[in-house]
Amino acid sequence: MKKFLDLLSEEMGKAFEAAGYDGALGRVTVSNRPDLCEYQCNGAMAGAKQYHKAPVMIAGEVAQKLADSSVFSQVDAVAPGFLNLKLSEEYLLKAVERMTKEPKFGLEQPEKGKKIIIDYGGANVAKPLHVGHLRSAVIGESIKRINRYAGHEVIGDVHLGDWGLQMGLVIMGLKERMPDLVYFDEGYEGEYPEEASFTISELEEVYPAASAKSKEDPAYKAQAMEATFKLQNGVRGYRALWKQIMKVSVADLKKNYGSLNVEFDLWKGESDVHELIPEMVAYMKDGGYAHISEGALVVDVKEETDTKEVPPCMILKSDGASLYNTTDLATIMERMRLYHPDMMVYLTDKRQDLYFDQVFRCARKTKLVDPETELKWIGFGTVNGKDGKPFKTRDGGVMRLETLIRETKDEMYRKIREGREMSEEEARQVADLVAVSALLYGDLSNQASKDYIFDVDRFTSFEGDTGPYILYTIVRIKSILAKYREQGGSTEGLVLQPAENQSEKSLMMQLVQFNAMMQSAAEETAPHKVCAYIYDLANAFNHFYHETKILSEEDVRKKEGLIALLVLTRDVLEACIDVLGFAAPEKM
Ligand code: ARG
Repeated sequence: MKKFLDLLSEEMGKAFEAAGYDGALGRVTVSNRPDLCEYQCNGAMAGAKQYHKAPVMIAGEVAQKLADSSVFSQVDAVAPGFLNLKLSEEYLLKAVERMTKEPKFGLEQPEKGKKIIIDYGGANVAKPLHVGHLRSAVIGESIKRINRYAGHEVIGDVHLGDWGLQMGLVIMGLKERMPDLVYFDEGYEGEYPEEASFTISELEEVYPAASAKSKEDPAYKAQAMEATFKLQNGVRGYRALWKQIMKVSVADLKKNYGSLNVEFDLWKGESDVHELIPEMVAYMKDGGYAHISEGALVVDVKEETDTKEVPPCMILKSDGASLYNTTDLATIMERMRLYHPDMMVYLTDKRQDLYFDQVFRCARKTKLVDPETELKWIGFGTVNGKDGKPFKTRDGGVMRLETLIRETKDEMYRKIREGREMSEEEARQVADLVAVSALLYGDLSNQASKDYIFDVDRFTSFEGDTGPYILYTIVRIKSILAKYREQGGSTEGLVLQPAENQSEKSLMMQLVQFNAMMQSAAEETAPHKVCAYIYDLANAFNHFYHETKILSEEDVRKKEGLIALLVLTRDVLEACIDVLGFAAPEKM
C-alpha cells in the first residue's frame, strides 16, 4: 500500500502541474501548526525563485485547481505562500479501510528480502551480564524483529566472548579453588564427567577474583595466558573444562536474555572460528594484504581522506596470538561462507567506533566480504544514573543486569498494587510483564547513539512517554472491547465510519502513517521511530477516548464503526510493541 503522504503529495503534484508548475513541488507534510491545518505544502515557496513569481500567487493558483478535490476538503493559500490543507473525511476513511484489509496494515514487502545477520548481545562467558549489556541486547533484538516484519530474513547471533584471556583466568581461578578436579590431572585419559562440577554463582565469583589477582600478580597473569594458550591449542582437560564452563554459562545467559524477551538464532562465539584463523592468515599474507610490523602481522587500513589517525588492523600479535580483531575478521569470513548475507549489523558500545572502522576497512580491503555486502555498525550510548555518570549500584559497584531487572520488577509491583484490587500473585505476574516494557521502552525510545538516564521511577510510570503508558492504553482498549462483547457485540465484520470529530480524525490520521513509519524504522535500523509513533498514537487514542462516547453511542452503525477503529488501534499498537520486544497483559 502506498504511503499516505505520498498519496497526498501525488494529488498536490497534479494540482501544481495543472497550474503549470513542476509537480515535484507538491510535497505534502504533516502540519507543524496543527492549530491551523492538518497537512501543509510549502512547494509554492520553493517554486517562487524558479518561476519568478510571488509564492502566494502560485499557492493561490494551485489551491484553485484543488477546489473539487476528493482528497482535500479545504485548501488555503496563505501569506507568504503556504498551502494549508484539511483532509476529506471520506478519503481518510478509505485509507484506514485499506489498512485493515492489507497484510501488515499495508506495509509493502520487498520482492526479495535481504539476508541480514545481526551481531548483538556480545556477552562474555563466565562474566555476569551488567547494565552495559542491556542496550546491545534490547536494541539488537528490536532491529531483528523490525526487519523481519519488514520482510527480510534476519539471523541473530550472540557472538559470545568465549575464547580470550578471560577463559584462561576462569580456568586458573577454578584450579585454585578446586585443584582436585579431574580436568587438571594431566595424566588422565578417561572420559570427563557429563555434569558440571560448579554452579553459575561459583563461576561468577571466580572470574572477578582471578581478574583482580592477575592485575596485581604478573606471574599469575602469565599462568592465565598459558592456560588460554593451552585451551586454544586443544589440551584435552582444558577443552573439557571449557565445555562445562560454556554449558553452565550459556544456560544462565539464556535465562537472563530470555527475561528480556531476547532470543538468538545462533549461539556462536569467538571460539567457533578458531580453526579458520590459520587459513585466513595465510590468505591475507598470500594476497599481499598483510605485512609484519614490529613483529606483529598487520593490515594497513588508513585512507587518504582520513582526518584522524587510523592505525593498522592487527591480525596476529608478535607472539602469534590472535586478538579480538582476528576473531571478528574470521567470523566475517565464516559468515560469508555459511550465510552469504546482504548485510551484517553490529551493535556495541559507541567507544568501539575506531575498532569497527579498522575491522570493516580490513574486511573490504582483503575482500573477505563481497563489495555488495553491507557492513553496518551501530554504536550505542551509555546508560547513566541521575548524576549523569555511568549507572552504578548504590555503593558504586557495577550494576548487574539481573539486579536491574529485579529492581524494576519490584518497583512495578509496588505501583501495580497501589490502588488496584489484584491478588498478590496476579500483581506479580502483571508487574513482571509490564516491567519488561518499562525497561525496553525506556531504552528503545532513545536514539541508540545517545546516552540516557536510567530512571526506574520514570520508566515505570503509567503516564508520559513510557512502556507502561503504552500498555495501559492497549489494556484500556481491550477492556472496552471486552465490555462490548459482554453486551453481546461481536468485533468481527464491523464497518468503519467517517470521523465525526477532530479527535477521531486525528486518531485515523495517526493510524495511516503506520506503513511509512515502519519502513523507515527498518531502513534506518531505528526502533526509536516505532516508540515515537506509538506514543503519538496512544496520545491520539486517549484524547479520542476522552472526547467520544463509545459503548453508550446510540447509533448502532456509528458504534460499530468506533469499535472497528478500536480494534485496528489495538492491533497496530500490538504489532508495534511486538517488534519492540514486549507484550501487553489483558488487565493491569
Ligand atoms: N564481547 C564483546 C565485548 O564485551 C562484544 C562483542 C561485540 N561483537 C563483535 N562482533 N565484536 O566488548
